[in-house]
Amino acid sequence: MGSDAGERTGQEQPKGLGYTVHGDQRGSLPVFERQWQEMLSAEAEPEFGPQERLFAERKIEALNAILPPAPATMLECGCGSAEVSAAMAAQGYDCTLLDASPAAIHVARRRFERRGLRATYTLGNVYSLPFPDNTFDVLTSFGLLEHFVDVEKVIAEMTRVIRPGGMFFADIVPERFSVQTVGTVFNAGVRLAYYGLQGDPRRGAYEAGRLFKPDFYENDYPLTRYRQYMHDAGLRGVVIRGNRPVPVLTLPGIVERPYVAALKRGANLWRRFDEAGSPLTNWWGAGWWAWGVKLPTKAV
Ligand SMILES: C[S@@+](CC[C@H](N)C(=O)[O-])C[C@H]1O[C@@H](n2cnc3c(N)ncnc32)[C@H](O)[C@@H]1O
Repeated sequence: MGSDAGERTGQEQPKGLGYTVHGDQRGSLPVFERQWQEMLSAEAEPEFGPQERLFAERKIEALNAILPPAPATMLECGCGSAEVSAAMAAQGYDCTLLDASPAAIHVARRRFERRGLRATYTLGNVYSLPFPDNTFDVLTSFGLLEHFVDVEKVIAEMTRVIRPGGMFFADIVPERFSVQTVGTVFNAGVRLAYYGLQGDPRRGAYEAGRLFKPDFYENDYPLTRYRQYMHDAGLRGVVIRGNRPVPVLTLPGIVERPYVAALKRGANLWRRFDEAGSPLTNWWGAGWWAWGVKLPTKAV
């Protein structure tokens, strides 16, 4: 494991990099380590709810259309609980799961073992990946890149370990306006109403406020900046486009079921949105999917 990650687990602050009020600017590791520790001690599988499950299914469908088919070697950086990689492993991909949080690696391993899936588990740091150049057919990350200030270094390091002709895929969710902003306003209202009705409006205000100020750091870089970094790293055929025209909403089960059913009925429209790559899609979509192919030799 890269020594940098080893120094920055737990409550420690990264040396010489500074903090913002809302987290570590180099991956928000202390925040994530706490989250994975809680999941680990809960013993329960971190299961997705019906909305997250549907969104993950749509992502896997898109990955199947974009990535080279199995069998192929696939590294997920910042794997967390590795839900998406588990689905890819079930399709025959040979997965390596890397995270700088020891608890995340335990949670990922537990998920894979409970499903009878195999993977290679690596505690490591995306600034200094413990693999030789040109190793993997596919490299993925989901919800990772937005947690760095110096994201260009991370993209360059990730690209280093992809074999020439192999593919880079990142799901990026930076801090910016999107459909999820609208969803977050709605979700804050739900919390205010719920705790208000329980006679605890202060708790409602606290829980609503937390939605707008998460503990972790998120950059607000424009799509063009990510595109440039991918190009600079030696990736070509770079595509970055918005995806998911609908938000995650906090809903009681009785309302969530028809919401999810309606989203399933509108799957074709949703697909057309995800495939459009228009300025509207890139602005409104909840996140960006970014992919490209590594050149045989890095272009100057
Ligand atoms: C938002 S979570 C995403 C987890 C998972 N990919 C998912 O989609 O659920 C970001 C993950 O990146 C990991 N991470 C943060 N900084 C890292 C670093 N420098 N090297 C490796 N992993 C890192 C965190 O521990 C966390 O598990």
